[in-house]
Amino acid sequence: MPFARHLYNAVLRPVRRARTVGPLRLAARLPIVFDLISLTMQTRDLGRLRRIRDAYPVATDEHHKRAHDYNAGVSQAKGVTTTRRAEDIYEILAMPPRPLRHERLLIVGPRNIHEFLIAWVHGFDWALMQGIDLYSTNPKIRPMNMEAMDFPDQSFDAIGMSATISYAKDIGRCLHEMARVLRPGGRFAFGMPYHPQNTEWHGDRLSASEMRRLLRETGFEVELVKSYGRIFTWGYWLSRLRNYPAPIYRAVAAVVGTFGLDGKFLYIDTRDSMEVCARRR
Ligand SMILES: C[S@@+](CC[C@H](N)C(=O)[O-])C[C@H]1O[C@@H](n2cnc3c(N)ncnc32)[C@H](O)[C@@H]1O
Repeated sequence: MPFARHLYNAVLRPVRRARTVGPLRLAARLPIVFDLISLTMQTRDLGRLRRIRDAYPVATDEHHKRAHDYNAGVSQAKGVTTTRRAEDIYEILAMPPRPLRHERLLIVGPRNIHEFLIAWVHGFDWALMQGIDLYSTNPKIRPMNMEAMDFPDQSFDAIGMSATISYAKDIGRCLHEMARVLRPGGRFAFGMPYHPQNTEWHGDRLSASEMRRLLRETGFEVELVKSYGRIFTWGYWLSRLRNYPAPIYRAVAAVVGTFGLDGKFLYIDTRDSMEVCARRR
């Protein structure tokens, strides 16, 4: 009988996800454990963080100085990073499940050591990870411009880049550099926003189809382009309606108030974020 057989399998032979990381890394993914490890690591780097606005180790033109000032300001204002948004990027790079301990990983624009910990809990080897940024908050992060890297050709097996490509002065040039330092068959995964109205960072205006075209032109095969929205509380979404006509704002505010939705979460498919994965030909 099919039901009895399925019941037997469910209890005695349940399907398990392939496990490529050991119990230590699985334990380090738990929210409290992860946050405490990251906090300890970031606290050791606070001295370096205080100095990142003293000089421009990389930026030589106005665009990169502006990117440096803006991001260094955000890093200092935050002090300690807690977001795990980069996690999706390393989940993509870790698929299909396989041992990752021999893969050389480049992390572009990590801001601090936090993203290394994310990559490590997904199976990448600590010693084989290298980061670059416009400033360095940790010895594992070399000051280097992603649009003109010092690494020899084919230095890496994988590249992860979260919320960084929009700051490029020339996205084509940046993709060309990623293709150059990846070995053939190596993968590049990144996440970026899509805000066609952004006048400050022109990279944000690049659509998914333009990104596909640029990737193909720079020597990549596109594996994944996923556009998605955001999840926030109803209260936050309501605050975004303040500049809309008052009747609309008042109607939504009434619904939120009546049903007590303020602190509840709502996903809206705004399609203003993209995740991309491409393989070097
Ligand atoms: C918004 S932060 C992203 C931090 C982290 N990856 C995350 O997702 O939370 C962007 C980072 O990219 C760095 N960045 C901007 N332009 C860059 C460039 N041309 N070369 C290298 N890093 C750059 C910034 O300094 C900053 O640390």
